[in-house]
Amino acid sequence: MTTYRICLLPGDGIGPEITAEAVKVLGVIGERFGATFEFDEALLGGAAIDATGTALPESTLTIAHAADAVLLAAIGGPKWDTTDPDKPRPEQGLLGIRKALGLYANLRPVRIFDALKDASSLKPEYLEGVDMLIVRELTGGLYFGARARERDVEGAGTGGAPGQRAYDTMDYREFEIERIARVAFDAARTRGRKVHSVDKANVLESSRLWREVVHRIHEAEYSDVELVDQLVDNSAMQLVRNPAQFDVMVTENMFGDILSDEASMLTGSLGMLASASLGDGTALYEPSHGSAPDIAGQGLANPLAMLLSVELMLRYSFSMHDAADALAAAIESVLADGWRTRDISEAATPLELTVGTVAMGDLVCEKLGETRR
Ligand code: IPM
Ligand code: MG
Repeated sequence: MTTYRICLLPGDGIGPEITAEAVKVLGVIGERFGATFEFDEALLGGAAIDATGTALPESTLTIAHAADAVLLAAIGGPKWDTTDPDKPRPEQGLLGIRKALGLYANLRPVRIFDALKDASSLKPEYLEGVDMLIVRELTGGLYFGARARERDVEGAGTGGAPGQRAYDTMDYREFEIERIARVAFDAARTRGRKVHSVDKANVLESSRLWREVVHRIHEAEYSDVELVDQLVDNSAMQLVRNPAQFDVMVTENMFGDILSDEASMLTGSLGMLASASLGDGTALYEPSHGSAPDIAGQGLANPLAMLLSVELMLRYSFSMHDAADALAAAIESVLADGWRTRDISEAATPLELTVGTVAMGDLVCEKLGETRR
């Protein structure tokens, strides 16, 4: 029996609650599909700041490097919110681990579950045929470019006092664009359709380089795939006007952050969007949502984005495609039976079908058991 070591990073807020559901579901999957999952839990984000003073302790990186995959829940919360550049922030842990593991490609599949069509903020007819993959560059751009906060010698603040200035830099090197473009074109090949490359080439120099490089890679290696350039403001509009036009969307780090939150609403809830971060080192899987501090500890969080992230882990890191298919089918079937967490319930959802985190996890486990061959 194959043993997989998973580095668990429960993080903050609802993180520990949804992590527990992932572990429970992996237990059932291991039994059914003949694999053993071993878990090494480590600190990241606010929890790590509280325990060690830093959002990404060395020990966490050591465990992550040694693991077959990393499963991360969510980080952050008001407790650690600060605008003081000298104070640690939970997000530094997340960005730090992405960078340290070389995870330059963040894949966010936007999949519509039939049963949730009415939970979307768009009318159901707009969701017909929506099945897209957002490929977000994850270790470059504004998130990692040169930045500073400094006293501005030229400008003046209010009242004539010396002002401050701050800047972040959207910085891309050719090789960073090349490799993310290849990830997108490869994905489009297996999905068989097209790539929208999203940029702001009418304004930004980094976007002009982005566009040139994407086209060069396209012409040289992927001329069988259709390539469409789209400006990011237009993409934001197209996502709600005609989302079915998209197959693979590839874009730089921050555009991808923003557009993927927008796209998540097509699925009904940010609580349904999973992600896989792939690159040079151990791959990392995490829901796209945050730590939802407002509902933390109350057993209300939707664990499905976390479980869908487990599905991606089974596929990409362990090549357990049958198990991944079974998990996806179990989730689909629980939703088809009408079960909902609060975030995906509607006015018409019967009260008795609205469940919490643990019950949702149990339902998925039950389905996995029922469909056992
Ligand atoms: C995401 C999140 C993170 C990001 C935050 C928490 C730093 O929004 O994974 O989309 O901006 O990358
Ligand atoms: Mg985000």
